[in-house]
Amino acid sequence: MSAVFDPRALAGRAGIVTGAASGIGRATVQALVAAGADVLAADLDAAGGEETVKLAAGTGSSSFAPVDVAEESCVDALVATAVERFGKLDFAHNNAGVVFAGSPLHEVTNEDWERLVAVDLTGVFYCMRAEIGAMLESGGGSVVNTASGVGVVGLPGQGPYVAAKHGVIGLTRVAALDYAAKGIRVNAVCPGSIETPLFDEAAAADPGLRPLIEAGHPIGRLGRSPEIADAVVWLVSDASSFVTGQPIVVDGGYTAQ
Ligand SMILES: NC(=O)c1ccc[n+]([C@@H]2O[C@H](COP(=O)([O-])OP(=O)(O)OC[C@H]3O[C@@H](n4cnc5c(N)ncnc54)[C@H](O)[C@@H]3O)[C@@H](O)[C@H]2O)c1
Repeated sequence: MSAVFDPRALAGRAGIVTGAASGIGRATVQALVAAGADVLAADLDAAGGEETVKLAAGTGSSSFAPVDVAEESCVDALVATAVERFGKLDFAHNNAGVVFAGSPLHEVTNEDWERLVAVDLTGVFYCMRAEIGAMLESGGGSVVNTASGVGVVGLPGQGPYVAAKHGVIGLTRVAALDYAAKGIRVNAVCPGSIETPLFDEAAAADPGLRPLIEAGHPIGRLGRSPEIADAVVWLVSDASSFVTGQPIVVDGGYTAQ
């Protein structure tokens, strides 16, 4: 749970979190609601999304909305639902993503490439385009895209994922410049390796994985989803009012090496 924000810091603010059924998105919904925001928690996974809504407690509120971020019409409908419900759109955390199992570039299939880019990059583009349209109508807002530590450095065997996350940072910078004078800030959060159910599963199958990943992070451990959520809440809030166009890296020192 967020340690930083008072329970009314985002009172009266309303917005969307995608990828809200699990991991970082779930923790962000919890942190936003704890800080007083009203949140549409969107995901492909309805059961997980409803569970997030149950777990979110605070002076704000949340409800689940289905979305496939790789489908333009689905994203447009999500943003329309938010505007209908809240009468405006103050923030959006574009966080839904899929991972790539990994292979050297000459073995990457078209299917792998297209799926990664469709969700992790085109999905962010569809979301930003619709959200920024709504924010222009309601007089401004804050967009936070989830990129990755590997949005700023490379990682062997992860061509589609690394390319998509670099793309997210490029799009973030351009949107920040396009709308800086119109009251819309656009930033990216770049997590290092974060402890999620998916990681625990992989670590259980491969006992060498956890020590390897921990050794790669100078802080000596994986990150936790609430540590990313706190950065998102800060980027949504007025505490970051002079910050736009930035990849905010939260990675235990991984990219400092
Ligand atoms: N966990 C990490 O170590 C880590 C590190 C860097 C970046 N990230 C990024 O953080 C974001 C969240 O990842 P996470 O670790 O919480 O993973 P996660 O798998 O726990 O959560 C991702 C969520 O996105 C949803 N999703 C997937 N495809 C979707 C689609 N097409 N439409 C709507 N929802 C969809 C899933 O249902 C899931 O609930 C991703 O963008 C990921 O790339 C994660």
